[in-house]
Amino acid sequence: VKLTPESIRSRLHTRVVGKRIVCLDACESTNDRAWQEALAGAPDGTAVFAEEQTKGRGRFGRSWYAPKGSCVLCSVVLRPSIEADRVPLVTAVAALAAADAVEDAAGVEAKIRFPNDILVGGRKIAGVLVESRFISSKPDLFIVGIGLNVNVGRADLPAELREAATSLAIERGAEVARAAAARALLESLDRWYRELDGVKAIRKAWRERSAILGKRVRVREGGRSYGGVVNEVDPLDGLVLRLDSGHERAFRGEHVERLEVEGSLG
Ligand code: BTN
Repeated sequence: VKLTPESIRSRLHTRVVGKRIVCLDACESTNDRAWQEALAGAPDGTAVFAEEQTKGRGRFGRSWYAPKGSCVLCSVVLRPSIEADRVPLVTAVAALAAADAVEDAAGVEAKIRFPNDILVGGRKIAGVLVESRFISSKPDLFIVGIGLNVNVGRADLPAELREAATSLAIERGAEVARAAAARALLESLDRWYRELDGVKAIRKAWRERSAILGKRVRVREGGRSYGGVVNEVDPLDGLVLRLDSGHERAFRGEHVERLEVEGSLG
């Protein structure tokens, strides 16, 4: 069954997110479509869904794999009033929302691999791509793109993703209604969007949800690779690694191209 605004909106309890819902059969990227909607004046919380993307984007120009009709591909227009130094919090709340939605929809524990991959059992189940626009150094518009694997079977995954990726259906052992997953996502984003004013709740949840705190990781930044142990993860201050050289070094989420947890999946 296709996602429709009606199926998502029935029993949807949100204040802002999903007040307007657009569902498409196909588009290049729901983020691009949400930009068009936003630039044409779409209200705060407008959500765009698609059955299929022909140019789904991941972070750092990577492509996003999602077989037609079996995922939740969603982009939400957000218009918060925040200062430029709080921009990383938008990515943090999007990742927290996606993690909550995974738990609500499939009843399995979800973790966040810095800065914004959602993992279940060490395998990636959702990804977040936040884009923003600034007007004279103040951010005024965000597109929060979330790709959630819902009814993708293990056999549907291309060989190179089979070990590294998972889906709600794989984890639950049964298909999950995509409208329910979409609703869970809009509701959790609506809750976390309200927390953007402060930082305390986001910080706490972010640490608790971390898949990497205290673990040995390998980070790629600016074409270089760094190995070390994660001393701290913070949505604003970034990732603090105790490098093998003994030095501490901080990494900002938006600069981290790749992060691998050593000796584990993903
Ligand atoms: C990543 O893990 O690199 C982020 C992936 C984000 C994918 C979603 S799918 C919906 C939205 N539209 C896109 O083109 N990308 C995001």
